[in-house]
Amino acid sequence: MGHLSTNIWIDCDPGLDDFFAIKLAINSVRVNIVGISTVGGNCSVYQATQNAISAISPFNNKIPIYMGSERSYSGENFRYALDIHGRYGLPVKQNTTNLKSFNIDAQRGMKLFFDKSSSPITIVALGPLTNIAKFIKANSESMKNVERIIVMGGAISVPGNITKYAEFNIWNDPKASKIVFSSEIPIYLVGLDVTNYIHASRQDLNKMGKLSCEIMEPWFKQNKPGAVFHFHDSLAVLTVIKPNYFTFETKRITVETSGKSIGQTKLSQTGSLVNVATVLSHGLTKKYLIKNMLSI
Ligand code: RIB
Ligand code: CA
Repeated sequence: MGHLSTNIWIDCDPGLDDFFAIKLAINSVRVNIVGISTVGGNCSVYQATQNAISAISPFNNKIPIYMGSERSYSGENFRYALDIHGRYGLPVKQNTTNLKSFNIDAQRGMKLFFDKSSSPITIVALGPLTNIAKFIKANSESMKNVERIIVMGGAISVPGNITKYAEFNIWNDPKASKIVFSSEIPIYLVGLDVTNYIHASRQDLNKMGKLSCEIMEPWFKQNKPGAVFHFHDSLAVLTVIKPNYFTFETKRITVETSGKSIGQTKLSQTGSLVNVATVLSHGLTKKYLIKNMLSI
């Protein structure tokens, strides 16, 4: 681990944008992936785990992967997004026959690595916040080594993407989101307010590497002409690699946990203090992410 690199734990539901976010982290000397936990969301947690294994291979089989929750904090089934990500949670099934095995219990994995860590860990949460909420509730003492939680999720000043009120990750587990936002840990929220504006189009395919093309060409074929691929999760990772690309503002945010606006993240005087990403350098960000896809 370089002296300038940040220890991160990625909790994710790969999912196509999670897949590229993991690749982005692996390719950067600014982050050191301590471990990965998976959660259902874009697809089943088993499929998400297979996709996470394929994302770290063949580069680095040393990263431990722990499978987490298949259901939300309150025990409900996640509502998948296979129409967007593909029937395997990705547009094409990745070859996982010769890949390392994974570990079963995300809660045990987080406790193992958080307790023994000699330096602070940043959690980068890219899916529903179920695993993180369960861990905070059951292992508050182990959170002492967690310096912040970066969350890809929410929509404060823009409409949602799964309902007009809510963003997908928060909507899939609003109760877990409320628990995480109201914890003592500093939260950095990278929501649709910034991620809506960074996407790749069909024309960008000629700037992508072999694997990126193998995955993205079918994705564009499976979607209607003019569809664009939103990087979403990569932006949460990029806040660690290029913090100067982002501006955060501290706001009081509450999460709706019932009713027609369930999953909405809205400003409220009684809400929890959350650092919300409000501005980013669009040109620099897109250039960095497309360049990264050239190396994949
Ligand atoms: O709303 C976008 C988020 O929901 C991303 O994390 C995507 O992978 C899905 O999980
Ligand atoms: Ca995700």
